[in-house]
Amino acid sequence: MNILNSKLNSNSPIGFVDSGVGGLTVLNKVRKLLPNENFIYYGDTIHTPYGEKTKEQLLEYSDSIFKFFESQSCKAVVMACNTTSSTIYQDIKDKYNFEIYPIVQSAAKLLAKLPIKRLGVFATHRTILSQAYPREIAKYNPDMEVFGQFCPEWVNIVEKSLINEEKSAGIIKNDLDKMLVNKPEKIVLGCTHYPFLTDILAKFAPSEMFIDPAEDFAEFIKEDLAQKGLLTSSQIEGNGKFYVSANPAMFKSSAKLFYELEKEPELLTF
Ligand code: DGL
Repeated sequence: MNILNSKLNSNSPIGFVDSGVGGLTVLNKVRKLLPNENFIYYGDTIHTPYGEKTKEQLLEYSDSIFKFFESQSCKAVVMACNTTSSTIYQDIKDKYNFEIYPIVQSAAKLLAKLPIKRLGVFATHRTILSQAYPREIAKYNPDMEVFGQFCPEWVNIVEKSLINEEKSAGIIKNDLDKMLVNKPEKIVLGCTHYPFLTDILAKFAPSEMFIDPAEDFAEFIKEDLAQKGLLTSSQIEGNGKFYVSANPAMFKSSAKLFYELEKEPELLTF
């Protein structure tokens, strides 16, 4: 965050950004802890999947979106996306006039405390390539072995509402089998879209094996905002605005499992 920090207003909204509906798994958890906060959610659906984009492309998309959040006077922005957190957070963390919360770095701190030796990470291609999970976890626990497995089709299954198709279960089982060869004690769902698939995963492995980092991430955000004096003073339920860069109807329908939107999100491109 830059020097304009002192101008942040605790009653301003919190921004949330992801390539699509995935970030709703984070928004959902944050809203449970901080129901009075106003928020703005941006799903960059025209550019999904982020996991297949280059770093330069992700920097370009994020810059437009973060400038939009600045124009809305957001006090904080939640990078509800593992791919951007692991690929571009370091490059942009001091560039904007608000707090930025990246999911990978915050989650890694807590994952490193798990009393296990072998941790699996399911994530997008770009997140796995970045090595962000093993690198961040090693800062706190160098003894934990971290095994990454990228799951190229999972984001599409969620975005396109293909969760109940038989073919989808086969794809997911195939990636899970590859991961299980490493004998992980727990597996992190290292892409915010993946918690949409926990029912399918639970058909093939015990559900306790999977960790959705959003829960701890939401706690972290709450504590940090409190520490910085940025929690809202409002006593009434906050409201939210949803924007997407393409396919608002598809977004509303795919979102259902984690967030029941009252109406379609607004279309907003830059
Ligand atoms: N949900 C995002 C993540 O956590 C992005 C997935 C994608 O669009 O590939 O990585």
